[in-house]
Amino acid sequence: MLRIIRYTALALSLLLLAAGGVLWWQRGSIDPQSVLGGMSVPPGVSVGGPFELVDQNGKPVSERDFRGRFMLLFFGFTHCPDVCPTELQVLADVLEQLGPRAARVAPIFVTVDPERDTPAVLAEYVKLFDPRLIGLTGTEAQIAAMAKAYRVYYAKVTPPGASTYLMNHSSFVYLMGPDGAFRGLFRYGTPAEEIARAITAGLPNA
Ligand code: NI
Repeated sequence: MLRIIRYTALALSLLLLAAGGVLWWQRGSIDPQSVLGGMSVPPGVSVGGPFELVDQNGKPVSERDFRGRFMLLFFGFTHCPDVCPTELQVLADVLEQLGPRAARVAPIFVTVDPERDTPAVLAEYVKLFDPRLIGLTGTEAQIAAMAKAYRVYYAKVTPPGASTYLMNHSSFVYLMGPDGAFRGLFRYGTPAEEIARAITAGLPNA
């Protein structure tokens, strides 16, 4: 039975990956046409909201701590073999491209694997990409609540024969405005230049 569930979960994950998360977004009533890696904000769709987590230094943080700055968010886990390191490098490149304007942006990595990703683990990890990168973790319930608000898909998967688990997860980059409102999302693989350009366009005195 467990094996069937496992294979079902794996098949579902692969389907979601293959569809680029479009199926998930359709379920969340977001028009997939809006998920084009640009700045589109689908009308009438809520993405984001309040959260209570802890940062890589163990300090409690909420969305209010980032008001006045853009939040550039990515959800993943430190044991991720490829997608997360690739995308976190993109976030680091965005900061690089923004130059001094990067001070107006909070680059945030939220773990979907709080079981392993403690603040200490996140601290070691995020600094590999950029010292400005903020790592957030919390209880399973806190992470689940935030993932739900951001419509992030994630699931624990243990490949057959593997001794440890992986987390399947959607891989969009979220851009939230200085007011905390959803501004847009970027597909995995969107060039850093495009994301930096979108942020610059949103800066009144850029
Ligand atoms: Ni990943």
